[in-house]
Order: sequence, then C-alpha cells, then structure tokens
Amino acid sequence: MCPRACIYLLLSLSLCVTVSEGKQDFAVNVNDDGTYNVVVQGDVWLKSAPTFFRADGQVFSSADGSLKLVKNTQSSGVDVVGQWEANSFLYQAGSSQIEASFVQYTPDPSIFTYNNPAIPFMLFKQRYINGANNTASNSSDFTISGFPGFLIQESTLPLGYFGYGGSQFGSLGLMAGQWGPSSFKITDGIEGGPLALFDQVKTANTLIISPASRFMSSSIWRQNASTGGDNLYWGTMGGVENAPLGVETSFILFCGNQGINKAFVSWGQILKQWHGRTDQYVKSDFTINYLGYWMDNGAYYYYRTEKGKNDQDTVLDLQTYMGQIGVPARYIQFDEWWYYWDNDHGVVTWSAQPKVFPNGMQWLYNKTGYPVVAHSMYWSSNTTYATANGGKYEFLIDGPKSLPLEERFWTDLLAESRKWGLFVYEQDYLGTEFQQIKKLLTDIDLGSQWLTQMGNGAAKNGLTIQYCMSLPRHALQSLEIPVVTQARVSHDNRPNTDNWKIGVTSLLAWAIGISPFKDNFWTTKVEPGNGYNGTEPHTSLNAVVATLSTGPVGISDMVGGMNRTLIMKSVNADGLILKPSRPATAIDNRLRKMAWSDFEGPDGEVWSTYSDFGGKNKYGIVLAADLQGSYTMTPCMAGYQGFPSSMVFPANDPNKIQPLTDPQPLTMSGCTTTDFCLFYVSPVLTFNGKQVLIQGELDKWVPMSPQRVTGINIADDITISLTGAAKEKVSFWFNVDGKSTPVACTLGAGGLATLRFTAGACLGA
Ligand SMILES: *[C@@H]1O[C@H](CO)[C@@H](O)[C@H](O)[C@H]1NC(C)=O
Ligand SMILES: *[C@@H]1O[C@H](CO)[C@@H](O)[C@H](O)[C@H]1NC(C)=O
Ligand SMILES: *[C@@H]1O[C@H](CO)[C@@H](O)[C@H](O)[C@H]1NC(C)=O
Ligand SMILES: *[C@@H]1O[C@H](CO)[C@@H](O)[C@H](O)[C@H]1NC(C)=O
Ligand SMILES: *[C@@H]1O[C@H](CO)[C@@H](O)[C@H](O)[C@H]1NC(C)=O
Ligand SMILES: *[C@@H]1O[C@H](CO)[C@@H](O)[C@H](O)[C@H]1NC(C)=O
Ligand SMILES: *[C@@H]1O[C@H](CO)[C@@H](O)[C@H](O)[C@H]1NC(C)=O
Repeated sequence: MCPRACIYLLLSLSLCVTVSEGKQDFAVNVNDDGTYNVVVQGDVWLKSAPTFFRADGQVFSSADGSLKLVKNTQSSGVDVVGQWEANSFLYQAGSSQIEASFVQYTPDPSIFTYNNPAIPFMLFKQRYINGANNTASNSSDFTISGFPGFLIQESTLPLGYFGYGGSQFGSLGLMAGQWGPSSFKITDGIEGGPLALFDQVKTANTLIISPASRFMSSSIWRQNASTGGDNLYWGTMGGVENAPLGVETSFILFCGNQGINKAFVSWGQILKQWHGRTDQYVKSDFTINYLGYWMDNGAYYYYRTEKGKNDQDTVLDLQTYMGQIGVPARYIQFDEWWYYWDNDHGVVTWSAQPKVFPNGMQWLYNKTGYPVVAHSMYWSSNTTYATANGGKYEFLIDGPKSLPLEERFWTDLLAESRKWGLFVYEQDYLGTEFQQIKKLLTDIDLGSQWLTQMGNGAAKNGLTIQYCMSLPRHALQSLEIPVVTQARVSHDNRPNTDNWKIGVTSLLAWAIGISPFKDNFWTTKVEPGNGYNGTEPHTSLNAVVATLSTGPVGISDMVGGMNRTLIMKSVNADGLILKPSRPATAIDNRLRKMAWSDFEGPDGEVWSTYSDFGGKNKYGIVLAADLQGSYTMTPCMAGYQGFPSSMVFPANDPNKIQPLTDPQPLTMSGCTTTDFCLFYVSPVLTFNGKQVLIQGELDKWVPMSPQRVTGINIADDITISLTGAAKEKVSFWFNVDGKSTPVACTLGAGGLATLRFTAGACLGA
C-alpha cells in the first residue's frame, strides 16, 4: 500500500489525447491507484486488468495487494519520435523494484507520410530497476508481467478485432471476431502478434496494440478463468527466467480515426522512426526489383530435376530456354536441397552437395551470371562450423539443433557466399528454431542477439535477408534490422491453393517496411511430371497478386512450360518489375467483415493499391477475387481519400469508363478465383475541352507504374516521361471523351522516351 504522504503527492492525472481536427478523441485515463481505461470517441473501449509482475518465484499483483505501489512521479522529454509526458508508478514486487509508466507521445508530424495525421499515442513501459530473479511462469505462452492488461468483458458498443499470429508473418494463426469473453479468441503466447480493435462507424476507429521494443521476448497473453481470470496482457514472454537490471520493455497503444489500413501505416511509421528502420535496402534490393526464377516448395524443380540430369544442368537448361523465348528472369533461388543437412534437416555445412552442383556454386555463378537467393534452415548440432565439431565458431547446442552465438560466423559465412553470387540470404524455419532451442525462450536477449548478428553479417557483406516461417516477433524484430527486406506472408505455394490470399498480412508487412512475398507461382496450368500431381488453374491471379505485392515476383515453371505473355505483364523488357507504390492490401470493410460475418463488407477478397506520382497524380488499382455475390465500393472505402476526381474501368475494357465518387461507387460482381476482377482508377483531366484519362500501359498488370512512368506534366500538353529497356516498345493508352486509343512508343537506346499527348507521338532518347 502507498503510504499516506505518498498518496498526498499523487496527482489525479488524466492523460487525454485530442486531435484538433474532427472528433478524434483517444484517451488513456489513469487513476491514482494505477488503474486505467481506454476511451475512444467518448466511449470506454477497455478497462484495465490488474497489473502484475513475476519475481522471486511468485506473482505480485495489484489484484490482491501483493504488488505494492511505492510512489508515483511525472516527467517529460523529447526523443526521436516526439514529445512525451510520463506518469510513472513505482512498484515493489518482492525484492524487485519495477516501474510501470504511461508515456503519452505527441509525435513529430514529419514521421507521417501517405497524408496520415500525427496522432498522439500511448506507450506502456515496464522498467526493471534492480532486475528480477526467478520470474518464469509455468508456460512460455504466458507472460511474466502484465502491463498493459485489459479485462475481457462484453463491451457496450460492438468492437471487432483481428490478431496476427502464427507462422509466415502472423498469417497462419490470424484470428478475427468480436471482443467479448466468449467470442475473443486469438493466437497468443510465443506465436502471438499485433492486435487491432475497431468499431463499426463509417471510417473505423482503430486501436492497435503491440510490443514497441524487445520484440523477440515480448508477448500477448490471453489469460482465462483456468489461469486466473478473463484478461488480456502484454509483457515479457513466460519462459524468461530473469530480467536483468535496468531492462525496459514497452508496448504501444495507437488509435487512429481514419480506418484500419491507415492506422496500421501510422503505427508502423512510429515504430520505424523509433528503431531507425529506413527503406533504402528494400528500394535497392535486386530481387525485389527484378523477375526471378524460384526452385522452392511448390516450384516444378523443387527436389526435382529434368529427367536424367542434375540441378546444375537443369539450371543451365532453364537459362537457355528463357533466353530463347525471351523471359528476362534476372536471378535464381536455390532451396533446401542444395546444401548438406542431417537427420533432423538441420544444416551441417552450407555449401553445395556435389550431386546437386558438381562444378560448385562459383562455377555455376560464373557460367549463368545469376545472382542467388539461397535458402537456409536452423543449424544442426553436427554443424561443421561449431567449435564442438572442430569448427571455428561458438554455437549453442540443444538436442539435434544448434544456434550460432557469434556475429563473426555470419560475417565469414556470408563473405564466402558472395563469391558464388549470393545476394539474398533466405532464413527459413525461424519459428521452429525459436521454439525448439530452449534458451531462446528463457533468455530475454538471446533471440534478438541471434537475428541482430545475422543482420549485421549480411549488412557487412552488402546482402539482404528474406525471412520465411517467421512469427510476428521475428517480423517486428526486423524493425531493428533494415537489411531484412522481404518476408513470406502466406503458406507455401502449391498449385491450385489459396497461397495468393496475402491481402491481410501484406498490411502488416507494408506497415513495418517489409516487402511481402507470396512465394513462387506457375505461369502454365498443366506441367506434366510435376511433384504435386496438380495443375494450376489460377496462373493469372497468382501473377497479378505477386506483382501488386511489391515484393519478389518468382516464376517456377518447367523448361518448356512458361507463358511469356503472362510473365511480361509483370515486368519490362529488362525484367524490372512494374509495380505500384505500395502493396495491395485488403480494404477496411473486408477486414471488418472478417470480424462480423453480417457486416456490409465484401464476402471475399477485395484489395486496393495505387501508384503515386505526387500531387494529384494518383492512379488506383482494385483487385477482387473469390468474391461471393456483389460488392459496391466508394473511393473512400478503397482508401482513396484525398485522391482527385477519378474514373474507373475494368482492366480488360478500357472504353468502359465510369465515374468513381462517393455518390457513384463501383459495383463488382462475378469476381471469381479464375475470372477475377481488376479495375484501374485514373484522375479525370480536362484538356482542350475534352475529358482525358491517362490509362497507361494496359498490357501490364500495373499500367501506371513508377518503374515505367517517371514524370507526368500537364500544361500546354500532357507530357509523359517513360523509362525501360533500350529500344523497348511501349503501348501507352489514353481515353478521350470515352474512347480509348494507344500511342505506340519506342524507347531510345538510352531506355528513355518523352510522350506528347497532342502529337500522339513519342521521342526516344
Ligand atoms: C538476483 O540474483 C542475483 C544473483 O544471486 C543477486 O545479486 C540480485 O540481487 C538478485 N536481484 C534481485 C532483484 O533480487
Ligand atoms: C485457458 O488457457 C490455457 C492455457 O493457455 C489453455 O490450455 C486452456 O485451453 C484455456 N481454457 C479455455 C477454456 O480456453
Ligand atoms: C500454471 O500456473 C497457474 C497459476 O499460476 C495454474 O493455475 C496452472 O494450472 C498452471 N498450469 C500448468 C500447466 O501447470
Ligand atoms: C549427428 O551425428 C551423429 C554421429 O554421426 C549422429 O548419430 C546423429 O544422429 C547426428 N545428428 C543429427 C541431428 O542428425
Ligand atoms: C569465377 O570467376 C572468377 C572471376 O573471373 C574467377 O576468379 C574464378 O576462378 C572463377 N571460378 C570458377 C570456379 O570458375
Ligand atoms: C493424381 O491425380 C489424379 C486426379 O486427381 C488421380 O486420379 C491420381 O490417382 C493421382 N496420382 C497420384 C500418383 O497421386
Ligand atoms: C498465356 O497468358 C495469356 C495472358 O494471360 C493468355 O491470354 C494465354 O491464353 C496464355 N497462353 C497459354 C498457352 O496458356
């Protein structure tokens, strides 16, 4: 209990956050006794659950008074995110002193792009002033601390949620539903991830709660009656045995009033600013920019070669074949079959097996010139790199697996691998490794040490990293490791499966600056002799999804099995991917429909994206597939707030233009998986008394891509600057008073051209 004198000093401080524009009203009201509630637009959304900390083998909770409030203090300051004001409660938990702080931030507006306003937010900080011993709970899926924590009660207004969770960037355990004791079910614990709560108003108010630091050791825990009460907690993961002196962990509570997509982006911008994540590595990653050929699960040549040939000859034949038909794949991916592994499939030595590549990796690289994305797994206890096995580096050995403990290992391994063309180190089985090496679950720092050392090793060698089978904690940890540029966001590709449904996970990826990867895909339906006994009826859908993801576009057909026409819809003649400005993501009403099956959202996939050329030059793309019935969407519902007055047309009929405004929305129907719907949105220009739409390069999935169009100038003429391969032919469309026609353009030897609308002609350079 707090002594009298201290109570006297307590201020009844209400941390109210109000945004000047509109009615935005987000507040975390904090009481003198350390209880709190979350208010959105005047309604209480969440009430605090008892704060608790484990120490000295016990639970100290404010519920039974065992957690003693010592004092309450206020402070303020400025950091890289903005100005903050903290209200800190110092607690005694057995022999440990722990501070729980409410830190209200007024972020610096310059952090926010995409027209997102600078909305204040709250951080919940836990600081172990003198450390804590014997903290572990009896399950690694619980937490050793609970702050923030909320009661899971019926709410007065309908609140929906979705929580990322599980493997492949939190996609496999993603759960959605309604807030409330019987309906709230998430993937929590080690596999848990960011949680979004939202309401049903026109533009959803959205609350996002997640760790803000120490991502590898922070968890969400849904406690239930059998484990102590119906509460939802955030804290350090349950297996952690002690908290070192001074350890600080923080959780962010961000509330946006412009819908779910925008809330995620703002949340991510804050976290990126915090952890110094820049997009320079994503922008320059060769494999994110160019078409690639993939040999992983789902690919024709996964553990499979051409008849009577090895992988080396198969790769050479693929290159010859692609050269003959003119498919500009620019790099190649080798999967788990290329190196030496053991009984448990752990890596023994990360170098080529002679039966796979008899002449070695460097020979093959010299011969093909293909940069390489190379797969790796967890390490074997028998790995030749470990000192225990006569190698040069310290590894932690645990059962059949092992974990490298020195950055030097990564630096050396990746330096060596550069010699055979490695561009991207693909780390697979991240979740398995984390859950099966016991010390990763019990040590508060080891998880981040592992990924940070890997990242530093890659950075020193100019390489980037793809995460595969990552849990949300790995995903969030990449905020501190900007060379992690890409991640798999759905289950492995198999012909005719729904691995293309990445619209929800791409939102998380986009928010934190990772390029989402849908995995390889086939471009021809029937590929005889494949290892899956399957056919791929949805080649086009896979191709468009990969292109709109802004992540890698990886084809995986057999020699003789590529559809060049389809492949060229994704790229220019050099293999440069023609993509939009941001990944396509599920629209807000789709996300809300996941929570409420009777919500007026689309019963199927409806995603949107756009290309932004600055100012009013914004060109939208809407994809609808596997959609039951019809769905009517306004530009606002597509996330096109602030776009100029526009018209929309189907990709396969540029003459069929119609306005896209709030009173004149777009109705989509008959959008199946095979015959999906794709729409393009162009600003309406008035030019010489005529209505003109720039429709762009309609034989590409993204007709207006910043990778093709480098300038749009509307003055005495409409002048478009184009870029591409030397002498590349570009057919560029305009719709004038309802009629669409192309302008034929041949780029100059320098791969440039200037197109003039009035002349209907192009000057190459
Ligand atoms: C934790 O244990 C260490 C080692 O026994 C001891 O020095 C330290 O005082 C303990 N910390 C607390 C908070 O009890
Ligand atoms: C309560 O939580 C425990 C531990 O996570 C879990 O095993 C159990 O199934 C849960 N009970 C209910 C009724 O959900
Ligand atoms: C874990 O501990 C809680 C109380 O601290 C108890 O209710 C629960 O049964 C325990 N679970 C297991 C699996 O031992
Ligand atoms: C490591 O090597 C030993 C000795 O050859 C073998 O018995 C063991 O199964 C190997 N471990 C794994 C995980 O393959
Ligand atoms: C590959 O090319 C490099 C640079 O020309 C050369 O030094 C190296 O010996 C070649 N390696 C093989 C295996 O051919
Ligand atoms: C392959 O698929 C066909 C049709 O689905 C089926 O009849 C056949 O038994 C399958 N073959 C194998 C080897 O699984
Ligand atoms: C190749 O793709 C194009 C474009 O999607 C399609 O029109 C054509 O039918 C495909 N060709 C074959 C042989 O499947």
